[in-house]
Amino acid sequence: MVNQIPLFLACFPLLAMQLVAQDASLADVQDLSTRNADFATRLYHAIARSTDANVLVSPITVSLGLAALMSGADGATREQLSEALSLMSLDIQTIPGLFESLQVSLNQNGEVGLKQAVGVVVDQKFTVSEDYDGLVQNKYGGKVVRVDFSSPEAARTTINTFTQSNTGEQVKDVLSASPDAATKVMLVTGAFFQAPFALAFNATLTQDERFYVDKYHIAMVPMMFRSDKYHLAYDPTKKWPLETA
Ligand SMILES: *[C@@H]1O[C@H](CO)[C@@H](O)[C@H](O)[C@H]1NC(C)=O
Repeated sequence: MVNQIPLFLACFPLLAMQLVAQDASLADVQDLSTRNADFATRLYHAIARSTDANVLVSPITVSLGLAALMSGADGATREQLSEALSLMSLDIQTIPGLFESLQVSLNQNGEVGLKQAVGVVVDQKFTVSEDYDGLVQNKYGGKVVRVDFSSPEAARTTINTFTQSNTGEQVKDVLSASPDAATKVMLVTGAFFQAPFALAFNATLTQDERFYVDKYHIAMVPMMFRSDKYHLAYDPTKKWPLETA
């Protein structure tokens, strides 16, 4: 967990700065960005509570996937997804356009390389409306992937190939085992992120330091250093290991 927090803190201001709205107004896209950050914070808490391992997640990709799912849901499911994603007070009709604008903004900056796989995987026995197909593709940058879950190994290959080809061949074996043959719908996301640091590190200051692989294993790895004055947010109600950041 220690590692992902600086990444999150480092990239959020960067992403927020890049927001240049297309269809939606800049304020609306910034509002979505704030809501996504709220979801991301809760996602980190949930992950931190459940594991001591080092975990790297792309909250924006998870938001996109769950929002795509929400656009295809109704009733209590939609309510729950909307609440989880901090999208409650927004008009459901405007949400897809907001996510589209957010992605356009992200892609406008040539230096931010974010390749994402957002797959709503549906068993081929179900019919998916063309409208929804188009929405997932055009607004969420994803795809409705049809598979035959009753052939789990073939389904796994299709899902892994989809994720790999949409992340510049970087995310492999997103499913390490065959899915359950009774699966009807599965949401799959993967991301590859590459961007320069907003504040560059000086390579000559790099030195070997302890890296906690897990609770019991420490490895010496080259660590980058930079001293300066930084804005740091601290939530005293949560046990974030920020003191090590
Ligand atoms: C990097 O750090 C070294 C040693 O302090 C210094 O001599 C050098 O000028 C620095 N380089 C940059 C690009 O700041």
